[in-house]
Amino acid sequence: MKIVIFGNMGYVGPGLISRLRSTYPTATLIGYDTGFFASCLTDVDYLPERKLDRQYFGDIRNVPENIMQGADAVINLAAISNDPMGTKFEEVTLDVNHRSGIALAKRAKELGVKSFVFASSCSVYGAASDAPKTEDSTLNPLTAYARSKVMSEQDLEPLADQDFKVTCLRFGTACGMSPRLRLDLVLNDFVACALTSKHITILSDGTPWRPLINVKDMARAMEWAIGRPASFGNFLAVNTGAEKWNYQVKDLAEAVASVIPDVKVSLNKEAFAPDKRSFRVNFSLYKKLAPDYQPEYDLVTTIKELTSGLEAMNFNDLQFRDSKLIRLKVLTSLQQKNELNSELRWQNQQQSEPIAI
Ligand SMILES: NC(=O)c1ccc[n+]([C@@H]2O[C@H](COP(=O)([O-])OP(=O)(O)OC[C@H]3O[C@@H](n4cnc5c(N)ncnc54)[C@H](O)[C@@H]3O)[C@@H](O)[C@H]2O)c1
Repeated sequence: MKIVIFGNMGYVGPGLISRLRSTYPTATLIGYDTGFFASCLTDVDYLPERKLDRQYFGDIRNVPENIMQGADAVINLAAISNDPMGTKFEEVTLDVNHRSGIALAKRAKELGVKSFVFASSCSVYGAASDAPKTEDSTLNPLTAYARSKVMSEQDLEPLADQDFKVTCLRFGTACGMSPRLRLDLVLNDFVACALTSKHITILSDGTPWRPLINVKDMARAMEWAIGRPASFGNFLAVNTGAEKWNYQVKDLAEAVASVIPDVKVSLNKEAFAPDKRSFRVNFSLYKKLAPDYQPEYDLVTTIKELTSGLEAMNFNDLQFRDSKLIRLKVLTSLQQKNELNSELRWQNQQQSEPIAI
C-alpha cells in the first residue's frame, strides 16, 4: 500500500497521517507540501511528518512524476484554504486549488493510481436558507474558494472510470485541535475568544446555519474514501459529516459559553463584513454509504479538547487574529518579509525539483 498526500502540512494533514499510520502500519506514506505553515506548530512533542516515510517540500503547481509512481491512493488537501485568502489571492487560488489539482489528478490517473480523494467543501452550496442541501441540490458558490471547489469537482468527474475511482468529500467547516491549529475557523475562533477575552461577538444575527466536522472525523472519512467500494460509482461527491453537526452560529457560541465559565455572547448585526454563508446540509448519503465511519466527536467534546489544547500552549493572545494561527496572516507576513512573491511562490528557490527529507 502506498498513499501520497498533497497539502499534508496544514491543519487537517497531521491527523490524517496519524490515522493512516495506525490503520496501515506498514504502508508507504508520502507527503508533499510547499510548507507555508510548516512552522505553525502548537504544543507538540514531535513533528507530525515523523510518521511519514518521506516528506517532499514542493509546489503542487510543479509535481515531479515519480512521486506518485506505484501509488494506490492519492489524497489532495493542498489548497489556498478559505474565503479571505481566496479573495486576496484569487488567481492563485484558482491556479492552486483547481488547475493544479486537476493536472495532479490527470497525472495520477496516467500513473495507474486507483483511488483519488479530493477535500471538497460544503461551501459549494453558498447561501441558501431553505431545505438541507443534498448532493443533487443546485450549487451556488459565492467566493473564489468555493468556485475552485466546484470547478475541481466538475473537472474530476470525467476523469473517473473503473480503474480511477474519484471521491470528493464535501466537508463542513472543520473544528478541533491539531498540531497545526488554525483559529480562522468559526468554532476554534469562539473558543479562543472565550479563553482570552471571555467575550464572543458574533458578526451577524447568529442565525446562519453552518455544518461542522471535527478534524479527526475528516481523517476517518478520507480513510473510508480510499477504500470505498467501486459499486458506489467511479465518481462520488458526498456531503461528509452528520446531521447533528448542523448548527446555527449562535448555538456554537452558546455551547462554548456553557463549557467555559463566565463567557458573554453578543451579536453584532451591523458587522462591517457579515458572513453571508448559511446552509444546512443533508448527510444521509454519507450515513448510508459509510455507516462505520460516521463522525464520532460531538460539539462539547470538541470544545473541551480545544480548550485543553490551547491551555497546554499557554494561549492568552488577545490579538490572536493577527497571529500565526490565522492562515491569511502567515501568507501576508511571508510576503512582507519578501519570502513569498505575488504568486505565493517561495523567492529565490533555485531548484524546481522538490526537496525530500
Ligand atoms: N479546514 C476546513 O474547515 C476545511 C473544510 C472543508 C474543506 N477543507 C479542505 O481541506 C483541505 C485542507 O484544509 P486545511 O484546513 O488543512 O488547510 P491548511 O491551509 O491548513 O492546509 C493547506 C495545505 O496546503 C498547502 N499548500 C497550499 N498551496 C500549496 C501549493 N501551491 N503547493 C503545495 N502545497 C500547498 C499548504 O502549505 C498547507 O499545508 C483544503 O483543501 C481545504 O480546502 C478544509
